Amino acid sequence: MKILAIETSCDETAISILECEGDEQNASFKILGNALLSQIDIHREFGGVFPAVAKREHAKNLVPVLAASLEEAELLHEDRQILPDNTRTEIGTLLAREPELAEALFAFLDVAETPDIDAIAVTHGPGLEPALWVGVNLARALAMVWEKPLVGVNHMEGHLLSALTTTNEDGTFEIKDVSLPVLGLLISGGHTELASMDEWLSYRLIGQTKDDAVGEAFDKVARMLSLPYPGGPEISKLAEAARERGNGTKPNLPRPMMRDDTCDFSFSGLKTAVLYMVKDRALTDTEKEELAHAFEDAVGDVLFAKASRAIEQTDAQTLVLGGGVSANTHIRRVFTERIALDHPNVALRIPEARFTTDNAIMIAIAGFYRTLKNEFIEPSEMKANGNLSLT
Ligand code: KG4
Ligand code: ZN
Repeated sequence: MKILAIETSCDETAISILECEGDEQNASFKILGNALLSQIDIHREFGGVFPAVAKREHAKNLVPVLAASLEEAELLHEDRQILPDNTRTEIGTLLAREPELAEALFAFLDVAETPDIDAIAVTHGPGLEPALWVGVNLARALAMVWEKPLVGVNHMEGHLLSALTTTNEDGTFEIKDVSLPVLGLLISGGHTELASMDEWLSYRLIGQTKDDAVGEAFDKVARMLSLPYPGGPEISKLAEAARERGNGTKPNLPRPMMRDDTCDFSFSGLKTAVLYMVKDRALTDTEKEELAHAFEDAVGDVLFAKASRAIEQTDAQTLVLGGGVSANTHIRRVFTERIALDHPNVALRIPEARFTTDNAIMIAIAGFYRTLKNEFIEPSEMKANGNLSLT
């Protein structure tokens, strides 16, 4: 079955088309089309993502991204179509707040044949709500015009499921032989969560951050060190440089809540400790590297300690990392080394690099499973929810 998936929850405009086969025990996927436009260069100028700017960029980029993805999948065929007046009016109303998107969509629909796809999946949360709405509204419009079933996908579920894939030599990938319960450590710009999947696709919250998300802490510490947005990869570069050099004097940083008996996190104290170290001082490059090093070490220790506690609490058989922060070299290394030592019977699944950043492939994967469960939503009833929860 062919799934077309749309992702606009943050600063990437992405549309992918996947051929999906199988079931919950054994599914296989092939990418037919995959188009993505990143807004990072625009947001970098502002030092972060502004929802209104993200929304405007998604509205501008979605139709070209859609056309590129369909074209790559060889599903874009020219055909002069006359949209019925009532459909045109409905779409006009639906996209009243995105007139630029409406205009581009009409121009596209007038010449493009209905593609041979089986369902449309769209991220309906969590994320920046104005940004989410643009993708959701496009999905609703396409589902109406093309008369295709529509499913809503939780962005964090996309991160989690895509991290469970194993890729074959021919580039297709699979999700199979996953031992339950699966513990998901979801670490991104907006989330720091431990969730247990006791049964396939049903989640229980085990722990979460009391204040900042871990990606947010990376971004804020980066700003304190005058590094560009997004801060995670920048901090990582400095920290790795310090580790390579060795023999540096790493400052002491706290590991908030690490030894308490919950699976919850807190990162604001760590961030404040960094703030005190940089306040009213001009750090040398070496000092910045050592501070990044100390910060990453503290984050890695806390994440591992909490995940470890959660494994014991849930009797997890599989641990999966998901979200933008799972791209971090140090965190990947900490988990690979320490899981092997402390929990040798737990299967660790770390996402491939291409699945760590936001993309629509992961939305198609999750959309496929939701389609198998017939969890279709009427286009008129689908909403975006910035705080959508997995549990
Ligand atoms: O999942 P994601 O792309 O967007 C959200 O859904 O939030 O995650 C973005 C976050 C940002 O905070 C970014 O700084 C962080 O992931 N990030 C990293 C790295 N790459 C991205 N953090 C640490 N190390 C990295 N290599
Ligand atoms: Zn994400």
